[in-house]
Amino acid sequence: MKIIMLGAPGAGKGTQAKKIAEKYQIPHISTGDIFRANIKDGTELGKKAKTYMDQGLLVPDELVCDLVVDRVQKDDCKKGYILDGFPRTIPQAESLDAALSAIGEAVDYAIDVEVPDENIVNRMGGRRACVGCGATYHLVYAPTKKEGICDTCGAELILRDDDKPQTVQKRLNVYHEQTQPLIDFYSKKGILKEVDGTMSMEEVFQAITGILGA
Ligand code: AP5
Ligand code: MG
Repeated sequence: MKIIMLGAPGAGKGTQAKKIAEKYQIPHISTGDIFRANIKDGTELGKKAKTYMDQGLLVPDELVCDLVVDRVQKDDCKKGYILDGFPRTIPQAESLDAALSAIGEAVDYAIDVEVPDENIVNRMGGRRACVGCGATYHLVYAPTKKEGICDTCGAELILRDDDKPQTVQKRLNVYHEQTQPLIDFYSKKGILKEVDGTMSMEEVFQAITGILGA
């Protein structure tokens, strides 16, 4: 099962993608997580990506496409995968399509998690990310057992640099301009599934598994 998660920044793509990956036993591939791991490790890719991410801009297509196309051809992707945060532009979607059709494959589902902009700003301000393992929490909707400490690995939690309010607004603008056209793109292919992302995390998950099946 090859799945793409679409949706604005903070719509809950990462939250749902993790749960889906676990349920269906397929890898969760988040380009945002890959870039953050590279930034943490101080790699060349990380240094380049950081200059864009900190401004709320998209990392250029040429730094993203090859990375994802290589990743989805690894052995653990044979049964499928869930892409979270990719594609984010029409050229990215076209490059994924071309790579897949060259090996006789195609994406099965593009799931769009819909949340209005006004809810997003609120969600991002309350999100906390673990500096150790990257796990995501929310002060109100997904709190940790001990304030400021990751439940999984015990490391410290931070507000992501790009979750500051002025950067969130910029990311939303970039989303509407560059990523939203993908909704039409996948709708025309007949694989778009829309889900109301304003429901609780569990309800959103039920809606998605209802689409994907047991
Ligand atoms: P990325 O890390 O992908 O960020 P994003 O798309 O902006 O999305 P987020 O991770 O912020 O949100 P999410 O939808 O995963 O929401 P989450 O589940 O955390 O990308 C970061 C940057 O990297 C980009 O800006 C860009 O620069 C670069 N980049 C990455 N991929 C790229 C690409 N393909 N091309 C170019 N550049 C790329 O949830 C948000 C919060 O809400 C959490 O606190 C969560 O606990 C809470 N929450 C989730 N669901 C619910 C719910 N149902 N009810 C209440 N609270 C909820
Ligand atoms: Mg995410």
